[in-house]
Amino acid sequence: METKNHKGVLIVDFGTQYCQLIARRIREQGIFSRITVPSRATEALSDGNFGAIILSGGPQSVYEEGAPSLDSEILNKGIPILGICYGMQWTVQALSGKVAPAALKAAREYGHAELSISDAPGPLFEGVENPTRVWMSHGDQVEILPEGFSVSGSTETCAIAAAYNETQRIYLLQFHPEVSHSIEGQTILRNFLFQAAGLHADWTPGSIVEETVSELRAQIGEAGEVILGLSGGVDSSVASVLIQRAIGKRLHCIFVDNGLLRAGEREAVETLFARNFDMDLHVVDAQARFLNALKGVTDPERKRKIIGRVFVEVFEEAKREFPRAHFLGQGTLYPDVIESVAAHGGATSVIKSHHNVGGLPEEMEMELVEPLRNLFKDEVRAIGHSMGLPPEVIDRQPFPGPGLAVRILGEVTENRCEILRQADHIFTTEVEAEGLHKSLWQYFAVLLPVRSVGVMGDARTYEFPVVLRAVESQDAMTADWASLPPELLRRVSNRIINEVPQVNRVTLDITSKPPGTIEWE
Ligand code: XMP
Repeated sequence: METKNHKGVLIVDFGTQYCQLIARRIREQGIFSRITVPSRATEALSDGNFGAIILSGGPQSVYEEGAPSLDSEILNKGIPILGICYGMQWTVQALSGKVAPAALKAAREYGHAELSISDAPGPLFEGVENPTRVWMSHGDQVEILPEGFSVSGSTETCAIAAAYNETQRIYLLQFHPEVSHSIEGQTILRNFLFQAAGLHADWTPGSIVEETVSELRAQIGEAGEVILGLSGGVDSSVASVLIQRAIGKRLHCIFVDNGLLRAGEREAVETLFARNFDMDLHVVDAQARFLNALKGVTDPERKRKIIGRVFVEVFEEAKREFPRAHFLGQGTLYPDVIESVAAHGGATSVIKSHHNVGGLPEEMEMELVEPLRNLFKDEVRAIGHSMGLPPEVIDRQPFPGPGLAVRILGEVTENRCEILRQADHIFTTEVEAEGLHKSLWQYFAVLLPVRSVGVMGDARTYEFPVVLRAVESQDAMTADWASLPPELLRRVSNRIINEVPQVNRVTLDITSKPPGTIEWE
């Protein structure tokens, strides 16, 4: 990030709910972006990596006591600035203009508005229709612009809805270009990045890989060794491939077979990583250990705790085999490390020690290696793809750390794991054969600990029911049950009853989240 033509955007978070959205919109244009809290903005700029600044929106009024603020010197650095909503109002106030509550309640704007673009609107509105529909969400507005600024757009109730000062390279928008309701928002952002700030689109999967690999080499050094818990999920998989590119066989991956995996999962990981990627992969067979520890346990929370504890024990033991490894690789993502401004205006310190595989204890005293900590999930997928990871890994549906244990209600036994594995395999392969997996967040089977009566051939059966669970979701916080084609359900039901011993009934879960959760435990 040192050369002049390779600069990113620093986003100062004034507490908007849209900060990550802004960061992603910038990155979609091939430009690196980083979010910071106002108190760290000056420090962040000092490394010279940023060729533009975005001041975000926020829920407060700039004239209130305790409203978030930053050193106004930022406005004199000659770095192009885009102020959005609160960011616009903060800039105006810092430069001695005037911000006030919208005089009439009717003048507050929440929702769509028509923006009329002025005759000399500056670079941001190049190629934008006039008028254009934008998304507003504000109770305050700019009444008097600072000296040297011109109005570039207005709405019916907001005379100064966009303004700029070309000499100072400051561009202000009262509306939100980052949300898709602002129809030409992306064009306006693009104009800011490429016309106003003159940035270059070079944040590509290839450049991310190259940069990350060289940073990893610098961190780990010539002789350093790393261990990484590989789950086969997209994050730990991409992290492992990146670290391996940097240090080859000095990366030791540990895959724990806890006996709670899906059909063929262990073999798939072995084939892909050890054979195709030539990785130093150590598979620890801990099936018996997990199942012994879970014997007789039916309480969901106790199951989870036991699995977490045994995982840590197994991982610690496996790690002793690599006494020279002082680094621990993890697939931590950018959303887990972003600090943000809380509603009260102060920074919330949210740097979580997030663990992707089990819950590895803090006191492991190893230096963390986190190659994905600058990346959003979609970027992780893109670079995984560019490094040759197959779609089965990149688009893999989320699978919980405690595995099948949270899908086997009641006691977890080897026999029950086997029943569920078979039923789940039939369901997932049928969904995938139908091409439906791309639109589903998760689809899996659940095994219940009760039995019901059925008839097969001429004989009475008394066996377990399986539940099919398929949901659509954006982020797992909420989810809708998915409506699957009746023909698919018929096929899956037939196959499960005919092919899986000890199952005589197939049911469908039609509960959304809330009130249900995605998993059953
Ligand atoms: P729930 O069941 O809470 O699940 O609606 C939300 C999402 O989280 C996944 N999940 C887990 N992932 N470790 C994980 O890594 C866990 O212990 C765990 N529990 C649930 C679940 O599959 C869904 O995607």
